[in-house]
Amino acid sequence: MSISTPKVLELSHRPSLEALLTGLEADLPGWTWKAGDASMLLNHWHVLGVFAPNSTRILAFLAYRPCGDALEVGALATLPEARGEGLMSGLLRYLKSRLLLRGQEIWLEVSSANGAARRVYDALGFRVVGARPSYYRDGSTALLMTLGE
Ligand SMILES: CC(C)(COP(=O)(O)OP(=O)(O)OC[C@H]1O[C@@H](n2cnc3c(N)ncnc32)[C@H](O)[C@@H]1OP(=O)(O)O)[C@@H](O)C(=O)NCCC(=O)NCCS
Repeated sequence: MSISTPKVLELSHRPSLEALLTGLEADLPGWTWKAGDASMLLNHWHVLGVFAPNSTRILAFLAYRPCGDALEVGALATLPEARGEGLMSGLLRYLKSRLLLRGQEIWLEVSSANGAARRVYDALGFRVVGARPSYYRDGSTALLMTLGE
């Protein structure tokens, strides 16, 4: 699959973001973000997306917002059929290259049981700086990870 450059999503992308969230909901039981959250995400978060070539279909997205002097990544996912193609690594690298120029740290939280996500974060240089044991419903630990200074 050819990988397009991440785009900053605007309110006009709401239908495409809703379609993506619908696809994720079907794949991920317990996934927090539903199609009805697309407007809220676009209004209150910065949302980056990767589109399928020559299409309005979003394959992967990442939502972040300022949190003190740092940036918090609150949601990110890739459609199941587009995983393992480097899309999320590309989105995070794009964020990293833009934000670290301004000296901002990136913060996120991940389940200790989420091997795919942890591989992506580890490869990009995120470090574990905190843990909340038994945080998730499946009993797994929430790991607080950061990239930056
Ligand atoms: C975690 C997630 C966002 C990664 O997205 P992605 O676009 O597949 O990420 P990348 O392609 O950049 O990297 C995936 C890693 O898994 C490996 N991988 C290979 N095939 C894969 C597949 N079919 N499915 C998942 N991962 C695969 C890749 O090799 C890569 O590791 P590598 O860099 O060491 O080669 C994605 O699995 C996802 O949406 N999961 C569900 C939602 C989620 O867990 N969000 C994170 C919450 S903190």
